[in-house]
Amino acid sequence: MSYKILEFDIKGDEKGHLIAFEEDQNVPFEIKRVFYIFGTQNGVARGNHANRNTKFLLISVSGSCKVDVFDGQNKETISLDKPNKGLFMDKMVWKKMYAFSPDCVLLALASEYYDENEYIRNHDDFLKELLSD
Ligand code: TYD
Repeated sequence: MSYKILEFDIKGDEKGHLIAFEEDQNVPFEIKRVFYIFGTQNGVARGNHANRNTKFLLISVSGSCKVDVFDGQNKETISLDKPNKGLFMDKMVWKKMYAFSPDCVLLALASEYYDENEYIRNHDDFLKELLSD
């Protein structure tokens, strides 16, 4: 399977909570890029693409959203609804994010710098590239 749910330890004390991400420790790749998605309009879907080279870890640090993942063999809908729940996706996973709550802040850690050329935005092309791998 090219994707996996990860549960992160919640640190902290009576003051509150904290979760730490460390590359090659609890994050299964070297982190080259961090971005977050917020203020997503009601009914909007994001993603709808696969990445030829980039691995991702998605965490909804506030609010919730859903992610449909498809790696060519397995298809699943994953609900990201806790700040200590992450979705790891290897390269070549088709992803669609949707059902964003108004307060959703979706944090993404990525293994590569942004490069539009490594995006596959057509689902048929994705299937063809999977078969030719
Ligand atoms: P896009 O890939 O369309 O977002 P999504 O797949 O979540 O719908 O990216 C939206 C815009 O942000 C687009 O103009 C490209 C830009 N962008 C960057 O500049 N750097 C990044 O790391 C990402 C993910 C996007």
